[in-house]
Amino acid sequence: MNPPDHPHPARYPLAIIGAGALGLHFAARLAVVMPVALIARDEARATRLRNGVTVGDRSFAADAFAADAPPAADWVIVLVKAGDTAAAAAIAERMQPLGVLSLQNGLTGDLLRAHCRAPRVDQGITTEGAYREGTAEGGRVQPSGAGETLLPPGFEPVAEMLMRAGLHARVEPDIARARLAKLLVNVAINPLAALHRVRNGALLEPPYRDALDALVREAWPVLHAEGLALDEPAALARVHAVAQATATNRASMLQDVLAGRRTEIDAITGALLRMAARHGLAVPAHEALYHAVKALEPGTGR
Ligand SMILES: NC(=O)c1ccc[n+]([C@@H]2O[C@H](COP(=O)([O-])OP(=O)(O)OC[C@H]3O[C@@H](n4cnc5c(N)ncnc54)[C@H](OP(=O)(O)O)[C@@H]3O)[C@@H](O)[C@H]2O)c1
Repeated sequence: MNPPDHPHPARYPLAIIGAGALGLHFAARLAVVMPVALIARDEARATRLRNGVTVGDRSFAADAFAADAPPAADWVIVLVKAGDTAAAAAIAERMQPLGVLSLQNGLTGDLLRAHCRAPRVDQGITTEGAYREGTAEGGRVQPSGAGETLLPPGFEPVAEMLMRAGLHARVEPDIARARLAKLLVNVAINPLAALHRVRNGALLEPPYRDALDALVREAWPVLHAEGLALDEPAALARVHAVAQATATNRASMLQDVLAGRRTEIDAITGALLRMAARHGLAVPAHEALYHAVKALEPGTGR
């Protein structure tokens, strides 16, 4: 998985902001077929990444740059956690790209657009998975199974690069609906698993199953009003299928809580609350869960 020897281009065809689990997974795959710039938080981290990091079972020496000295790039993928979106948007704008694509969880497109004036700024979704083992410094990244990446219209060149790297990717004409379907799954599974500190599969059993289904039923009218193309039984079936397929996984929000990190609750449940307010719909269970998860974040006294 080492990148082929090539001189650093003056302008990269693609850059990834966020050298975490998913950013490194994507960068390692892409670097086999093309130059890809990986933007890390600071120079110390960039140096470690240039020296090599283990992704899967291979060592990967990234074309890594510090966030305060990014190279120019045609296309930029944002893979920082939702709370770091504004900072990533500012970095992306400095790279003078044709387009900036978020593949983050939750809804971050508006935030990205507010802080980045590239010609195209939009959000896709991905079910690719990866997790970090050990510390950020000495650890490794483990891909956790192939998924699919859906991109908004206008990002055809990025879809083509991902496909060249052997990743499943395609442009989805109705990306807004695809984002809503992913948000449905995230608002139901992530905060509930985080609050009760259980793996996804436990949510399908008592005593959590009723709460899971209640969250789906409460979210459905809001997401339907926004354009979700599933009826309520199909929405329940979708959430159950994902919980089943990921039964042994710890949801990312649970991992954040266990590690004492900020969660992505504002971009996930927070996005649902903002939509509900726009439509004049009540979502009391989601509101309670939002505050319960917020109370678990660092700096809240718990
Ligand atoms: N992992 C998955 O399987 C998966 C699947 C689907 C979607 N996602 C979504 O993808 C996004 C990234 O997830 P992840 O699991 O890869 O998170 P992660 O492992 O925490 O990686 C995020 C990376 O972004 C870096 N970062 C934060 N602020 C930065 C800045 N201003 N400049 C440069 N780098 C910065 C972080 O650096 P520090 O470590 O120094 O903070 C970290 O290395 C999230 O929205 C997540 O929900 C993840």
